Amino acid sequence: MDIIESVREMKRIAAAAREAGRRISFVPTMGFLHEGHASLMREGRRRGDLLVVSIFVNPTQFGAGEDFEAYPRDLARDTAVALESGADVLFVPKASEMYPAGFQTWVNVETVSLPMCGASRPGHFRGVTTVVAKLFNIVRPTAALFGEKDYQQLAVIRRMVADLDMEVEVVGMPTVREADGLALSSRNSYLSPDERRSALCLSRALAAACARYRTGERSVARLREEVMAIILKEPKADIDYVEFRDGDTLEEVENADGRTVLALAVRIGRTRLIDNTMIGRGFTWNERC
Ligand code: PAJ
Repeated sequence: MDIIESVREMKRIAAAAREAGRRISFVPTMGFLHEGHASLMREGRRRGDLLVVSIFVNPTQFGAGEDFEAYPRDLARDTAVALESGADVLFVPKASEMYPAGFQTWVNVETVSLPMCGASRPGHFRGVTTVVAKLFNIVRPTAALFGEKDYQQLAVIRRMVADLDMEVEVVGMPTVREADGLALSSRNSYLSPDERRSALCLSRALAAACARYRTGERSVARLREEVMAIILKEPKADIDYVEFRDGDTLEEVENADGRTVLALAVRIGRTRLIDNTMIGRGFTWNERC
């Protein structure tokens, strides 16, 4: 596996692979890799001939007062995980090369970026779409893999790719969870053991809503009550949003159906966690739900 820091070198390797007729799979990340990232890499490996993984803690997607400085970093461990998961190239650009002096061009997806995480974190998606567009231009992959864990991010990126005629297939991958339901996230490393237990209220609430849906409940007002009640019981939890939206457009819905995504953002202590599920799909991480 090659570890590449320079944008120019990354472009050269990707161009050579393309000229040789090789399909490039790409998994962009911010590092502190876990099994969720690894599942994307394995699928990328399966779909392509050259697997490129990037690690870049992208400063422009963090707001003032957010956790950019504190965001966990461990390049030695990440290198081992990427290698084991089949990466051919680990691209770790420097911020000074991604955002040189004079940088002033942004990619902004409008409507889909506005609610939910876009409302709680103004400017966040502008940073995401800008860096992902840059990474796509550098790597020019055949396929790029993203997790459904960040559901709105996936919707925003699909919109960007469609709107800007980008030649890349966007592949969404299911959320990987711990055995007890907690969605894997690099930010889980912020949780104390007590907070880790409290954080289970997110997946518990999703599972309860899916169960209610299966018994025939379609009213979003009543499903929301159920979700809120479960989270409000947890003293360490503070709800940022509980949203029921169309899975593609992210427009609000009043009655749930097979296309509805239930998305949550909850603060556990100082850590903001997100999770979601397609309510009609049921909760599949374990058989009890
Ligand atoms: P990061 O949070 O490192 O996530 C990288 C990719 O891994 C994203 O597509 C995310 O949805 C996916 N992922 C994270 N946790 C997952 C889980 N439990 N199961 C499945 N997939 C999971 O998302 C970002 O980085 C950044 O915003 C980025 C797209 C790299 C742009 O900077």
